Amino acid sequence: MKPLGMAPRRAARWLACLAVPSLFLQQGLLSFTRGSPGWTPLAPSPPPLPSPPVPSPPRPSPPPRPAPRLPSPTPTPAEVVDLDATYPPEPHAWWESPTPPPWLLRLHAQMGGLQRVQARLHQTWKDEEPPRRLFARRWRQALRDANPGWDYRLWTDADNRKLIASRYPWFLRAYDRYATPIQRSDAARYFIAHAYGGVYADLDIECFRPFEPLVRPGVSLLLSYKQAHNFSRGACNSIFGSAAGHPFWEVVFDVLRNRSAITPRGHNDVLFTTGPAVLREAVRRLLRLPPSTQITSSMLAHLREHLGVWVLDAKYLHPVTAERRKEDSRDQLPPEAVCTHHFVSSWVAHDSSKHAVTEKRRWEGHAMAATEGHGQPLRTVNDW
Ligand SMILES: *[C@@H]1O[C@H](CO)[C@@H](O)[C@H](O)[C@H]1NC(C)=O
Ligand SMILES: *[C@@H]1O[C@H](CO)[C@@H](O)[C@H](O)[C@H]1NC(C)=O
Repeated sequence: MKPLGMAPRRAARWLACLAVPSLFLQQGLLSFTRGSPGWTPLAPSPPPLPSPPVPSPPRPSPPPRPAPRLPSPTPTPAEVVDLDATYPPEPHAWWESPTPPPWLLRLHAQMGGLQRVQARLHQTWKDEEPPRRLFARRWRQALRDANPGWDYRLWTDADNRKLIASRYPWFLRAYDRYATPIQRSDAARYFIAHAYGGVYADLDIECFRPFEPLVRPGVSLLLSYKQAHNFSRGACNSIFGSAAGHPFWEVVFDVLRNRSAITPRGHNDVLFTTGPAVLREAVRRLLRLPPSTQITSSMLAHLREHLGVWVLDAKYLHPVTAERRKEDSRDQLPPEAVCTHHFVSSWVAHDSSKHAVTEKRRWEGHAMAATEGHGQPLRTVNDW
């Protein structure tokens, strides 16, 4: 099946740096192909509906059917964040004004100066035994060897939940309610970064140089482009660094809350609700840009100057794209490369037959989402 007009190569590219993607192998996206509860925009806590039979869409497009309204229990505060009201877009480019806007001064005060990224490494897996058939033990070891003296912690699902329950209890209901494990894994890492600071890296990332030159003074948050220096696909959440308590994460939490009641109908919705699109939206809100403004590198330069947020070119942390992974020999990496990504994922798995199966299911999930859309167009990557 042609995946909705998108060349597989291109799809692989923008899917390239997703979070612990192999979770999909275990439990994640497979659930999309079972009973998808239908598109219930921002309806809190829907009990799963029995999945309706999937009709072939009549052509031309069917008259829009109203989305089923589910009884809405009183929304909890975790579900109500009006982003426009909380981060009102600035009508003009605030960085051109001679005086900093009041919200920026408040952020500075809150940060108490630009803190450095803590010397801590975080990884997560559902339990304490990341399967060796997926993740070479030496990748984990290399991360630690390259950063001697840094603390290391492998967070399990239970640890993640405990952190949220104890320090961010207002988010627990939304966290528990996420439809897929990958959403919980995505969200948890942002809370870890806020609570402890340090560098988070997925288990399929191998690093061979220290983070030290990247997490230098003046850098309090380190994000990266997924490709070259183009923000159109969001910021990678498979590896990033942060000072503990960086106000960026509070914006991320607000974006998570704003999107937490969306039930994903397909992979793009996962990206949208918890993945790289959340980081991108948080950057946009931090810059007080009007919704869906394209974020340019000159805007990001202001973010770096004012808030210590550095967005790295992909060549540092993601020097190869998923489809080029097989050619990935060390001497072909750019000299700036600190890490490389092995893309142990459901769609680029080591096991090509597994890859084919999960890839097929993934696109079936998309196709199903398209026909189940109740008049809602399928969310495409450009709608993030
Ligand atoms: C999310 O933010 C948008 C933009 O401000 C707003 O229109 C929408 O109502 C918000 N949703 C929730 C659930 O807070
Ligand atoms: C980024 O990529 C998108 C789509 O791949 C493209 O439309 C856009 O022009 C690119 N932006 C820059 C700054 O290269």
